[in-house]
Amino acid sequence: MTRRILVTSALPYANGSIHIGHLVEYLQTDIWVRYLKLRGYDARYFCADDTHGTPVMIRAMKEGIEPEALIERMHAEHVRDFADFGIEFDNYYSTHSPENERWAGLFYERLKQGGHLDRRSVEQTYCEHDRIFLPDRLVRGICPRCGAADQYGDSCEQCNATYEPTELVDPRCSICGQTPVRKTTEHIFVKLAHFEDMLREWTRGHLQPEVANYVGRWIEEGLRDWDISRDGPYFGFPIPGEENKYFYVWLDAPIGYIASSDNWCQQHGCSADELWKDGQTEIVHIIGKDIVYFHTLFWPAMLHAAGLSLPTAVHVHGFLRVEGEKMSKSRGTFISARTYLAHLDPQCLRYYYAAKLSDRPEDIDLVFEDFINRVNAELVNKLANLYSRNLKFVHKQLGGRLEGLDEQGRALVAEARAAAGEIAAAYERRDLAAVVLRISQLAERGNLFMQTAEPWKVAREDEQRARAICAAAAGFGLILAIYLKPILPGMVARIERMMKVEPLSWQDIEREWEAAEIGEFERLAERLDRGQVDALVEASREEFEQQAGAAVETETEPAVPLAPECTIEDFARVDMRVAEVLEVSEVEGASKLLRLKLSLGPLGERQVFAGIREAYPEPQKLLGRKVVCVANLKPRKMRFGLSEGMVCASSAPESAKGGPRIRVLAADADARPGDRIS
Ligand code: MSP
Ligand code: ZN
Repeated sequence: MTRRILVTSALPYANGSIHIGHLVEYLQTDIWVRYLKLRGYDARYFCADDTHGTPVMIRAMKEGIEPEALIERMHAEHVRDFADFGIEFDNYYSTHSPENERWAGLFYERLKQGGHLDRRSVEQTYCEHDRIFLPDRLVRGICPRCGAADQYGDSCEQCNATYEPTELVDPRCSICGQTPVRKTTEHIFVKLAHFEDMLREWTRGHLQPEVANYVGRWIEEGLRDWDISRDGPYFGFPIPGEENKYFYVWLDAPIGYIASSDNWCQQHGCSADELWKDGQTEIVHIIGKDIVYFHTLFWPAMLHAAGLSLPTAVHVHGFLRVEGEKMSKSRGTFISARTYLAHLDPQCLRYYYAAKLSDRPEDIDLVFEDFINRVNAELVNKLANLYSRNLKFVHKQLGGRLEGLDEQGRALVAEARAAAGEIAAAYERRDLAAVVLRISQLAERGNLFMQTAEPWKVAREDEQRARAICAAAAGFGLILAIYLKPILPGMVARIERMMKVEPLSWQDIEREWEAAEIGEFERLAERLDRGQVDALVEASREEFEQQAGAAVETETEPAVPLAPECTIEDFARVDMRVAEVLEVSEVEGASKLLRLKLSLGPLGERQVFAGIREAYPEPQKLLGRKVVCVANLKPRKMRFGLSEGMVCASSAPESAKGGPRIRVLAADADARPGDRIS
């Protein structure tokens, strides 16, 4: 039976464009699948857009369109980007599909029947203005540990602290800027601990050693229940039999792998049910290191509960860094697929990523000088050159005709052939860097042969012998082209055309090549220069600035909408007093905070921590000012001390360019500390 392999890449979110970080994964997978197909295996590459969840819903809301319209547009964009990089899926589908809904329902049913579900109340952040529960990422506020402004609800990018959104100082809804509340609601959980033994067993032998290591540690630390429901409004599938509850996006996302294959099967007369159950089909998921938990714990548990096959391998790659750092919009290193295509040849990136991607889950670094050097020195000077000088010469000087191989030629071709086992093994373990290294060594060998044999000189006396030399180099190049084909399919297609051969497959390595005719020369690869790369970075930076500029413009409109109506009685519950600033000091370890000592006249003094430091680079100027203090606010213990009230200030969300806009509210200079404001 032919080997059957079902391969996936993670499903990209439908709320953003494909960038060169994503491409690490889709190129790696594409190259691997192309290799499997070249071998003649029954390999299929399935993927889809990951369409559900709050970010898609909010982006659609901001654009004033339905989420369906947004995901349709993004789908078309993604499909085009991938195609232009030569990434060939057997099916590129969507998680917002009838197949996926059916499969998600089935998984849920089986989890339920197996007794793996649990329900309980959880407290969540809720925006009363937008009437939605806010995921941690959509709550922003001051970090309770270091005082950095504008941090996410789950962690601080400044000091790396992690916390609950309730702990944020001055939490704000990222959509409307208002203060969210806590609200209790019932959620549905998967009891992951039920799968502990099965997971411990599976993680051995199906993961790279490094990954198996830390997944093993997660299991030892104890598997916590997994929350799979979200309350409406939510863009996703309603949970059957529940009121206003939806599947959390990460429940139906991996099921999208099956749905995509199901959709394909319907058009090709097979059954996804069989593929995912027969125990014969290899199932390989290629993912980035940020989503390992989902793919090595949740997903196998779900498959197990549903009675389907477990993955043969979950292969993890590292993250892309550019010039040694995280991709950065302001530095212009956050490069979208589309912008790249406007400036550079996609095969350069295919080659470079392959050259850098080993089978280890390590980050890879795109260093521009190195990128340019490797493309020019290896792809152009070594590889393309091996073909161009030979084939051009044959076509022009030898009438395009070659002789059969002589003994020397057969020996040379045998050298290329001998590398097949080693290269196949490297491909099999997805060590593309090893593949490229071996190919590059062979190319060097081929070039050396040409340099020594000098057919262009030989031809002056003995055209016959010159033909034999060129035939040797061409035969050698043909085998090299087979090895190279998964990585550079476009370039190899041009080689096939020039050499007038049928599309090459792995079996052709063994075939004796009948030297035939050489056709018109086609250019194979162009040199890169620094100017092109600089232009790409500059264009990426400009795109970001334009977006930021657009964001600033919309912010000058009356941006923060009104809070829901309140009554005089509601308002009276907040006791605001005139306060005089007696002392101001900076807070060590909290760059965004100021410590204020306030006098409330007859009510005594108060210590208040306020997140206004950025707005007041010379804090001493606040001394003696009369400000507005919420005096009956429940005191709050912070790392630096007790905060006994709140200073009222106007604020607006951080604009893309400037920092947050904050101004303390002032009372008249002759207002008396302690007087009530109403
Ligand atoms: N939608 C989820 C995956 C669901 S799979 C059932 C998701 N989407 S994503 O768009 O954020 O990322 C898609 C894939 O691209 C992930 O495997 C992720 O690790 C990878 N990458 C995203 N940015 C990357 C880099 N900067 N570098 C390398 N890979 C990156 O996660
Ligand atoms: Zn809101």
